[in-house]
Amino acid sequence: MSELLQSPLQVGSMRLEGRLFKSATSETRATSDGFVTDDLLAFYEPMAVAGTPMIVTGNLYVSPQGKSAGRQAGIDSDDKVPGLREWVSVAHTGGSKLVAQLNHGGRQIAQLAPGADRIVSASDVREPLYGTKPSPLRLAEIPGIIDSFAAAAARARAAGFDGVQIHSAHGYLLSQFLTPHTNRRTDGYGGGLEGRARL
Ligand SMILES: Cc1cc2nc3c(=O)[nH]c(=O)nc-3n(C[C@H](O)[C@H](O)[C@H](O)COP(=O)(O)O)c2cc1C
Repeated sequence: MSELLQSPLQVGSMRLEGRLFKSATSETRATSDGFVTDDLLAFYEPMAVAGTPMIVTGNLYVSPQGKSAGRQAGIDSDDKVPGLREWVSVAHTGGSKLVAQLNHGGRQIAQLAPGADRIVSASDVREPLYGTKPSPLRLAEIPGIIDSFAAAAARARAAGFDGVQIHSAHGYLLSQFLTPHTNRRTDGYGGGLEGRARL
């Protein structure tokens, strides 16, 4: 078993030196406007020092509209790149690969962040935990959502991350599109699985 855990693994162009990974955990240790803090880096340092082959960050919001929690870290603007670079540097010091998890919270957000216009989702199905009633994304807004993920991935690359992981689970926006319960759309982004998975 330990031999298998210590054997290398190729994931796309990324070579991992072992198979013990830290999965994404939203730490909420960033500043209130999403910048990396020493507190956040201190959480990651022991994992890197221990040589964890791959570390996935907690989910990072790709736009203010997609910010789901207070003190969540963001990857939504270029001025966040220097802090993100420090995060990469901590991980690389121990030889870990660092993967940025990109997310848009959709309707599952505690509070609308400054700079966000409104709470959106695939359809207007009320969120059971926070009680928010989202407004459905207009068709013309969908390219902007895609662009926000693409721009976030470009920032991850600029900061030196080894990869990105697109969060499509746990009730966030992409999950809201995937499941027919929250996706009642009748356009090309709803209906059968192919439509719901299109985004
Ligand atoms: C505090 C906490 C925060 C989490 N945040 C995220 C997250 O941001 N993104 C994600 O995909 N999973 C998140 N998860 C889920 C974990 O990555 C993991 O899938 C889950 O804990 C199950 O793994 P385990 O059985 O090894 O604990 C979180 C889990 C915990 C406990």
